[in-house]
Amino acid sequence: MAAEQNHRGCIRRLLLCFLLGTLWEISAAQILYSIPEEMEKGSFVGNIAKDLGLQPTELSERGARIVSKGKKAHFALNVRSGSLVIRDRIDREKLCAQRTQCLLNFNILVEDELKIYSVEVEINDINDNAPHFLADELELKISELTSPGTQHLLESAYDPDMGVNSLQGYELSPNHHFSLRVQSTDDGVKYPELVLEQALDREKEPDLHLVLTAWDGGEPVRSGTARIRVIVLDANDNAPVFTQSMYTVSVPENVPQGTLLLTVNATDADEGINSQVRYFQVKRPGETSQIFQLNSVTGELSTSQNLDYEVAEFYVIELEAKDGLGLKGKAKIYVTVLDVNDNAPEVTITSVINSIPENAPP
Ligand SMILES: *[C@@H]1O[C@H](CO)[C@@H](O)[C@H](O)[C@H]1NC(C)=O
Repeated sequence: MAAEQNHRGCIRRLLLCFLLGTLWEISAAQILYSIPEEMEKGSFVGNIAKDLGLQPTELSERGARIVSKGKKAHFALNVRSGSLVIRDRIDREKLCAQRTQCLLNFNILVEDELKIYSVEVEINDINDNAPHFLADELELKISELTSPGTQHLLESAYDPDMGVNSLQGYELSPNHHFSLRVQSTDDGVKYPELVLEQALDREKEPDLHLVLTAWDGGEPVRSGTARIRVIVLDANDNAPVFTQSMYTVSVPENVPQGTLLLTVNATDADEGINSQVRYFQVKRPGETSQIFQLNSVTGELSTSQNLDYEVAEFYVIELEAKDGLGLKGKAKIYVTVLDVNDNAPEVTITSVINSIPENAPP
């Protein structure tokens, strides 16, 4: 049975093809409809029976049907009401992308009239898309030494809708450092740029969080957002600072060589190598022997010789802390040497010189 039907179908198609080229009249009069995209399945497109000059019931009686030449059929005939209806939801952006006019063409064949009517349906854009950014979060690395006025190009948003329904502008969340400038290319693509207005300082704010919003001009307006994280890169803009500008220590003179006296500490607000601090004693010109030793890494000050109150009871050591790139901080250490009873009382003898004869009696 199926084979037989198929066979008949073939014959009919052959006949049709033959007829199409010869007898069948292709109506020049086009039927035009205009509808918005995204209408529900079964929605009314146009009163096709009326436009063909038929009664609704005549559609099936006269063998009217849609011929869409192998293309996906987007419409159907409702033979009871005589109207053309949506067969499947139509998305203009899928069908026509950025083409300004989106037209769907097909023919209606009215078999007993031997006529083909061409129908054209224009699909109009609605604001069914919001602008969106490819990435939800952007990361920008900007040196804290960047001068105000510097621009940073951002990723543009995309809205596949047409005209006012597509991307219209951008907005930046309120902040103290950046403003937004919107540039347009010749073909109308709008892209946002961050402009640094107020210098950055990593030590105050190591990172900033902004929100970029893109909006369209539809009714209602739709928008999309992207978060922007600005990472402020360190520059060596801070010198080391000693925790005290003056350190004092008292030490008995009899402590062994190598005794730890105190530890100095300097901090640097920068990062990484910019914050690595080394400690040094500032040598005075002509100074030769070192009485104290300063560990350049730990900041530990210890004695490197035996102290002697009788030689010196007070020392001033000048210190420097240097960071990786050579910025310096200064401080002083005052060392007081305390007397310990380490000397026997001294006897002062005044000698009297007299001459005594060798034979003097004892
Ligand atoms: C130096 O001082 C800073 C700040 O007071 C502190 O965080 C750090 O631990 C100190 N370093 C040493 C070695 O004591």
